[in-house]
Amino acid sequence: MKAVFILRHGGPGAVEFGELPDPAPGPGEVLLRVKAASMNRLDLYTRAGLRGAKASDGAFPHVLGGDCAGVVERLGEGAEGLAEGDRVVVNPLLSLKPAPQMLGTSRQGSHAELATVPAANAVRLPENVSFEQAAALPTVFLPAWSALIEHAQLRRDETALVISASSGVGTAAIQVAKGVAGARCIAATSSGPKARAARELGVDYAINYEAEDLAARVREITYGQGVDVVLDPTGARLFDAAFASMRPGGRYGVCGVTSGYKAGLHLGQLFSKRLRLFGVYMGSTSLLEEIVRAVSRGLIRPVVHKTLPLSEARAAHEEMERSEHFGKFVLTVEG
Ligand SMILES: NC(=O)c1ccc[n+]([C@@H]2O[C@H](COP(=O)([O-])OP(=O)(O)OC[C@H]3O[C@@H](n4cnc5c(N)ncnc54)[C@H](OP(=O)(O)O)[C@@H]3O)[C@@H](O)[C@H]2O)c1
Repeated sequence: MKAVFILRHGGPGAVEFGELPDPAPGPGEVLLRVKAASMNRLDLYTRAGLRGAKASDGAFPHVLGGDCAGVVERLGEGAEGLAEGDRVVVNPLLSLKPAPQMLGTSRQGSHAELATVPAANAVRLPENVSFEQAAALPTVFLPAWSALIEHAQLRRDETALVISASSGVGTAAIQVAKGVAGARCIAATSSGPKARAARELGVDYAINYEAEDLAARVREITYGQGVDVVLDPTGARLFDAAFASMRPGGRYGVCGVTSGYKAGLHLGQLFSKRLRLFGVYMGSTSLLEEIVRAVSRGLIRPVVHKTLPLSEARAAHEEMERSEHFGKFVLTVEG
């Protein structure tokens, strides 16, 4: 099969595209003919071997990539609930014993013509959801939905603040806040063009945090009240300002630390405003089913920055490193 892989950890130049042996499905697994895949920050960390994301415990060549959608080609022994020819999308967080595995990081990935995944992680796609749309969903919509809806229980009459609105997770969180919760949404991002793109996506207010004081601007927009819920995929850089922007009873969800792991925590605000701080990591396969249904009903849609053929994955790694994108990179697979 053709695949995107690395022979060592490194920069975008370490990304190879070429021929590797076809994988075979193990017990309970299916062999998937991948039609589309998408990129996440985790793919950059895995390629570089950063932040604990070591490829397949050091076994090379390592096929990169988690998010994918395609057609079930073959069932492994005992694989249930799917049939050959089914169109599916995959939850890349595999609940396996003795430890969960992340497709494309702790095991061989899906940026390839073929991939093996547990049948239990595949969700059937309705006809009106394309492979490209589906592949852009799992790793960004699972934490966004899990944080905003399952944990924070964001309501219609509330306001959410989405940090780093242009990230894959940020664009998903905006969709969930507006399309699923029906809440008011303020987005924070790092440039004027990205702020304009966030407004076009439907946010009520977009703040360029490089040009404006985030906490002061949120206070102004909310008439001094603050926001009810924060979704933060980037951590250190804006944590203090975003945490200070919450109103009493606010809920603060962290799902990433792109800008750094360590932040101060104002314990006085935490207890006196009765705030809740929580973390989320991905989500269940039944939640992915709900997300697919929401796309099928037109409540949410993945935001795709650029679509490239699988053979150009290295260019996608290079461009994603520059962080000038708004939304997701999708890789399509021929044949
Ligand atoms: N917990 C989970 O389940 C989960 C799932 C998916 C991703 N994540 C994490 O969430 C974060 C976002 O993932 P993603 O795939 O959506 O990322 P992405 O699309 O690559 O996000 C890039 C954006 O992050 C923002 N950013 C803020 N500080 C940055 C910095 N120091 N360097 C680079 N970018 C910075 C910028 O957006 P603005 O210009 O708009 O600020 C940038 O354009 C990552 O840390 C990832 O590991 C966690």
